Amino acid sequence: MAMRPLRFLRRGRLVEIESFHPRMTLLEWLRLEERSTGTKEGCAEGDCGACTVVLARLRRGQVVYQPVNACILLLGQVDGAEVITVEDLAEGGNLHPVQAAMVGHHGSQCGFCTPGIVMSLFALSHSGKAVDRGSVTQALAGNLCRCTGYRPIVEAALNACQGPVEDRFTATMQASAQVLGALDDDTNMFSGTDAVFFAAPRSEAFLAALIERYPAATLLGGGTDVGLWITKDLRDLTQIIWLGRVNSLQQIEVQQDRLLLGAGVTLAEALPCLAAIDPDLETLMQRFGSTQIRSSGTVGGNIANGSPIGDLAPALIALGAVLELGRSGQTRAIPLQDFFLAYRRQDRRPGEYVRALHIPLLSQGTHFRALKISKRYEEDISSVLAALRVTLLDGHIVDVRIAYGGMAGTPRRATHAEQVLLGQPIASATTWKNAGEALPEDFVPLDDHRASAKYRMQVARATLIKALAEIAGLPTENTRIHPRREREAAHG
Ligand SMILES: Cc1cc2nc3c(=O)[nH]c(=O)nc-3n(C[C@H](O)[C@H](O)[C@H](O)COP(=O)(O)OP(=O)(O)OC[C@H]3O[C@@H](n4cnc5c(N)ncnc54)[C@H](O)[C@@H]3O)c2cc1C
Ligand code: FES
Ligand code: FES
Repeated sequence: MAMRPLRFLRRGRLVEIESFHPRMTLLEWLRLEERSTGTKEGCAEGDCGACTVVLARLRRGQVVYQPVNACILLLGQVDGAEVITVEDLAEGGNLHPVQAAMVGHHGSQCGFCTPGIVMSLFALSHSGKAVDRGSVTQALAGNLCRCTGYRPIVEAALNACQGPVEDRFTATMQASAQVLGALDDDTNMFSGTDAVFFAAPRSEAFLAALIERYPAATLLGGGTDVGLWITKDLRDLTQIIWLGRVNSLQQIEVQQDRLLLGAGVTLAEALPCLAAIDPDLETLMQRFGSTQIRSSGTVGGNIANGSPIGDLAPALIALGAVLELGRSGQTRAIPLQDFFLAYRRQDRRPGEYVRALHIPLLSQGTHFRALKISKRYEEDISSVLAALRVTLLDGHIVDVRIAYGGMAGTPRRATHAEQVLLGQPIASATTWKNAGEALPEDFVPLDDHRASAKYRMQVARATLIKALAEIAGLPTENTRIHPRREREAAHG
């Protein structure tokens, strides 16, 4: 099969790179090869946003501007995109409206954070979203300003990001869509040799063939975990197969009673689909990493990594999701809860990859809650995540699924607590308390730097009681930063 080199757009030019090391990050290429040093390296782990650049891609027929962390994005992942950095915004000596607003509001305090902040705001200005204080703080959640001068930055954003921004990117949008569309073709990219390569297959058949031929290769979704293996663990990854171009893994389909999300769907794309199931999933997804992490990270990566503190797994286990795995033209479906066998050990057979998730929608009389407890509200991994789906009939619990993250070596159901709840009246405080007291039979919690086992157990009890009390109609809303009620109203 014909292969082609890596290709992407840069400053109106098509860049083709025949040979690069598969573990080279976009940031390394920008700073060391192109010598565009406006983009900075701070943490090198996706946390501070100093390295934020924007990728323009054609997604479902539209040009979208995605802010990404260049420090953990591998160079091969820019295939088919336009790479936009802070050097590209000003034109003919005139600052971009976002840059001018940052200057005008005294939002630029140092040269380290400012480039990343400007790029996040540039992406926000092209997002088509109504901009208010809430959306600005969301857009900036992945940008650390070390001197804490956020107020002028937020003011600059509120000023510059209202309405369609007039810049040359808007002026040339149609032409960009055509060029990006032409790059989004059915070719396969392969750079390197059998021993050291970066591959970006387009078809699932070719993906399966690559996995069969190179069984030790690393599968790469968005790289928001794998990138850190390189920058922090200094792992010498030599064979990488990126799933971001495989068309059939990008499916999003709302069926009559379920939502299908392909493994390659980004967390940003999954957000509105999950939000439509329940307002708690909207809150959960808005707190998943940062805008940059959600632009790159994928649904499949969050499940396949098998993390005991990943956010999607407990929420989707509580919903009763089914996981679809693929291998050489065959598929295998298993309940998601059965995928996680032991700490970082999953039921994935040789050659298998995560293909899709089938997520049941909520039926009449069924209630859902997901509560994430972390040290910081945004851009932080869970200490504990509690998720619960309850079906009520005449005020009694007739079906219940409770799942937790952070309570064991794997995301798991709390079957003892479920048994306690079955058949009980939802409005009884004794029922809630008894369920909470059954949790030590279900879990011996993790005990680490993030949270002690004792704290985790206490939080697990409290979140379960809170969820049940809320479903029973008790006004516990004031203990939430973003009350559900507002979101329920917005969802109609
Ligand atoms: C700053 C920061 C904040 C974060 N915040 C959160 C958070 O709030 N909540 C949370 O849960 N996680 C968080 N994470 C972790 C990470 O972003 C998520 O786990 C993300 O979903 C991983 O997806 P990915 O596509 O980037 O995975 P990758 O890094 O590409 O891959 C992760 C693992 O899955 C494998 N893999 C990927 N796709 C497939 C597939 N289709 N089939 C088989 N194997 C596959 C890879 O080989 C690798 O082992 C954070 C990470 C960072 C750096
Ligand atoms: S350098 Fe901190 S997020 Fe990339
Ligand atoms: S802008 Fe860099 S420290 Fe605040």
